Amino acid sequence: MHAWARAGWRVVGVDADPQGTLTGWAADANWSIPVFGLATAKLHTELPGIISPDRFDLAVIDTPPLELQRGIVYSAMRAATDVVVTLAPTSPEWDALPKVWDALDDVDALRTRPAPVSVLWNRVRAGTSAPGVYRELLAEQGRYSCRNSIPLAERYAQGVGAPVVFGVEDTAVLDAAAEIARRGGGWR
Ligand SMILES: Nc1ncnc2c1ncn2[C@@H]1O[C@H](COP(=O)(O)OP(=O)(O)OP(=O)(O)O)[C@@H](O)[C@H]1O
Ligand SMILES: [Mg+2]
Repeated sequence: MHAWARAGWRVVGVDADPQGTLTGWAADANWSIPVFGLATAKLHTELPGIISPDRFDLAVIDTPPLELQRGIVYSAMRAATDVVVTLAPTSPEWDALPKVWDALDDVDALRTRPAPVSVLWNRVRAGTSAPGVYRELLAEQGRYSCRNSIPLAERYAQGVGAPVVFGVEDTAVLDAAAEIARRGGGWR
C-alpha cells in the first residue's frame, strides 16, 4: 500500500480481516492512507458503493486466512481486479496452496474475466536453497511469481504498528509493487 502511495497512486486500505490488524496499524501509526474495516462476505457487493473511483486509484484488500473465513475471502476475490498471494518458502505454506488455487478457480467461474494472480515471495532467507526450489516448482505449475522476493528481516517482523518508512534496503518492496501494478487487471 505504501509503495503504491509513494508512486503517486491514491490508495485506500480495506481491512477484510475480522482481527482488524490493518485498521489498528493505520490508527496506531497515524497513516495518511485511509483504512476501513469491511470484514463481510458481502464485500463484493458493498465495496463499489463505498469507495469512489473519483477519490481513489487503488484499493488494497487485506484478507483473513482462507480456512477461517472462506466467505470473506471469496467475496474479496470477487471484488478484486488483481490478486496477490504472499507466500513464504516453507512446507506448510506450500501445502496450503492447492486450496488457494481451488478457491481462485471457483471465483473465476463467477467473473467476466480472470484476475491476474501474482505470487509475492516473503520471508525469504538469504543464502538458502528453499526459495529457489519453491519458486521453480511454482513456475512449473504455470504460476506467476514476482521477480523480487521480500527478505526475512527484523525490520519487517518488528514493523507492525509502526510508521512505514522506506530505505535503500526496501527496494524489493518498491519493485514488487511496480511489477504487480504493471500486470494490472483493471487499474486506472
Ligand atoms: N519479510 C518479513 N520478515 C520478517 N518477518 C515478517 C516478514 N513478513 C512478515 N513477517 C512477520 O510475520 C508475521 C505474519 O506476517 P503477515 O501479517 O504478513 O502474515 P499473515 O499471513 O497476514 O498473518 P495473519 O494471519 O496474522 O494476518 C508478522 O508477525 C510479521 O511481523
Ligand atoms: Mg494478514
